[in-house]
Amino acid sequence: MPDVTNQLLSSVGAPAPLRGADVGAARERTRRRRLWWIAALLTPLMVWMWWRVLTGDPVGPPSMPTIDPLYLMAGLFFLFLLLIIVASSVGGGRSPHIVVRPEQIEVGLDDVVGIDVVKAEVVRTLNLFLAHRTFAIEMGGRSRRGVLFEGGPGTGKTHTAKALAKEAGVPFLMATATSFQSGLQGASQRKVRNFFKALRKAARQYGGAIGFIDEFDAIALRRPTMSMSPQPANPSSGLLSCGGLVGLPALARTVTPSVVTTPFTGGGDAQMTVNELLVQMQSFDQPTGGQKLYGALVDVINLVLPAHRQLKGPGPARANIMLFASTNTAERLDPALLRPGRFDQRLSFDLPGKVGRRQIVDHFLARKAHVAELDGEERRDALAAITHGYSPAMLEGLLDEALVQAVEAGRRAMTWQDVEHARLVTEIGLGQPVTYTAHEERLIATHEAGHATVAWLVAPQRRLEVLTIIKRRDALGLLAHGDTEEVYTRARGEMERLIQIAFGGQVAEEVFFDDISTGPSGDLQYATTVAAQMVGAAGMVETLVSFAAVQGSAFSDSGIVGRVLGDSEGRRMVEQVLTTQRDAVRLLLAENKHLVAALRDALVERHELIGTEITDILQAAQRAHESATADAPAVIDLRDPVTVDDPDVG
Ligand SMILES: Nc1ncnc2c1ncn2[C@@H]1O[C@H](COP(=O)(O)OP(=O)(O)O)[C@@H](O)[C@H]1O
Ligand SMILES: [Mg+2]
Repeated sequence: MPDVTNQLLSSVGAPAPLRGADVGAARERTRRRRLWWIAALLTPLMVWMWWRVLTGDPVGPPSMPTIDPLYLMAGLFFLFLLLIIVASSVGGGRSPHIVVRPEQIEVGLDDVVGIDVVKAEVVRTLNLFLAHRTFAIEMGGRSRRGVLFEGGPGTGKTHTAKALAKEAGVPFLMATATSFQSGLQGASQRKVRNFFKALRKAARQYGGAIGFIDEFDAIALRRPTMSMSPQPANPSSGLLSCGGLVGLPALARTVTPSVVTTPFTGGGDAQMTVNELLVQMQSFDQPTGGQKLYGALVDVINLVLPAHRQLKGPGPARANIMLFASTNTAERLDPALLRPGRFDQRLSFDLPGKVGRRQIVDHFLARKAHVAELDGEERRDALAAITHGYSPAMLEGLLDEALVQAVEAGRRAMTWQDVEHARLVTEIGLGQPVTYTAHEERLIATHEAGHATVAWLVAPQRRLEVLTIIKRRDALGLLAHGDTEEVYTRARGEMERLIQIAFGGQVAEEVFFDDISTGPSGDLQYATTVAAQMVGAAGMVETLVSFAAVQGSAFSDSGIVGRVLGDSEGRRMVEQVLTTQRDAVRLLLAENKHLVAALRDALVERHELIGTEITDILQAAQRAHESATADAPAVIDLRDPVTVDDPDVG
């Protein structure tokens, strides 16, 4: 019926799973066949028993033979021993999966929010799977068999898989890759084999089955014998693409998994496990035991039949299986696993953008106690804006931490301040009360005030978030500032301003103390990194040469900073960028000593300023300075107008 087919295929892209598609039809067929078999087997038995009844000789219970208890005990003992031996050898290679029942899972596809693109693709893949027969017969398509979820930790891979399990409507076999590992020689391979066996069996019984292997890298790491790059590294062959704009390097917050070597790489057993996976991924269509028997029988009969009377053996055994796997980096997986026909589709779970984060915030806040203020559009948008670089799991963690802060303060619902504090705690760490000497306190306050002043003056588009002289982790004090909008590229001017902000602290020390401390070492490191990127990667200074393209030299192992600084010309250019910006900051701060002083005094007094508190002080100081220079150029105390009472912050 082409109408039904068309309908089915056109609804593959629907936002919800297709229920009762081909998979449902297949299940119904299997059910009928099963009933038919039961009837076929039971009927002769029933007929025979009725025959006995009617002929006056009904079948009674079988009479038990009498056995000597001594023999019975001995027999039972050996049976028991045999059972133990069989169980230990079979159990060692048992498939570690669990079959997930939809009613055991509380997350559905509605709970997967903020990653719409990935979600739509997952649903489409599922629908294609459920309508596989139509797709294959009508259009000659080959359904997807392996889909790889790739993404950083906490981006929702396992979460999505669970939702999928709830909605799929076919058996969902879940296993973590680590549970395939075993110390026993050969047991890992047997577990893999049995997992696929279970998948095939479920697929036959229910018309389809889905497998999911979490943290796939644990068993699928690249075999040491495989070359590092599956494709020839010749840039002039194949499809050329000019990369487009490359986004900003990941912030420190986003965890970029580096290549770690686990003891599992290179081991012979691990290699065999990968091989087993490769084999199993191709043998979805293996015949069942019954079909093999049937085939053998047909072969034997055919031996005596003439050529034109030969019987036909069983047809191909299709098991409708789809396999999902999740991993942090697909690069580390064995390339053979990623070729077409195996895990040929990769879905990348990226960090959500601002819109996505807003949806996730809405989703989580719907069940976490919060004050009415947090229901405002503005606050929620702000929350989505300041959590740039957060994964969904981190967002959840942040809101949980905010609840903890609320409980500590004796409240039953979180406020905006709780969220702000939670962010400080999760991103920078808990404040450690240490008592600085009076001089040190002034020095640190001056340093941080210098950063903030420069940031406020040169980069008004940046949001000043926290200015503090409370020690957190290694930082004696710090200025946290971020982009107001989410940005993916930076202009040269912006890069220069970032360097200027970094120099603000050191220069402020110079201006006020005529000396510099060891404090700014981190700032210099940051400034050098930015300058090296400008010189060596972005072509922003003098040279257009990209140091990132260096390969096969002594420096190609080091990062961009190492490569640029390893080159005498590059080093000179970095040096020049840095000194130019430092001199600019010197001029700037010499003219704006009053701003630094005002912030410093506020910091010494209050230790921590958050958000608008910082800008309020700077604005007040600026106003006071302007009126003072206009009326009477005299030295005035700037501290009084500083203590702004804002009910919103603090
Ligand atoms: N898209 C999302 N929508 C809602 N919650 C999410 C989403 N992604 C992740 N989460 C939350 O983050 C937690 C961790 O995600 P998980 O799927 O385990 O991450 P991973 O990608 O490391 O497997 C989940 O338990 C869930 O509560
Ligand atoms: Mg996971």
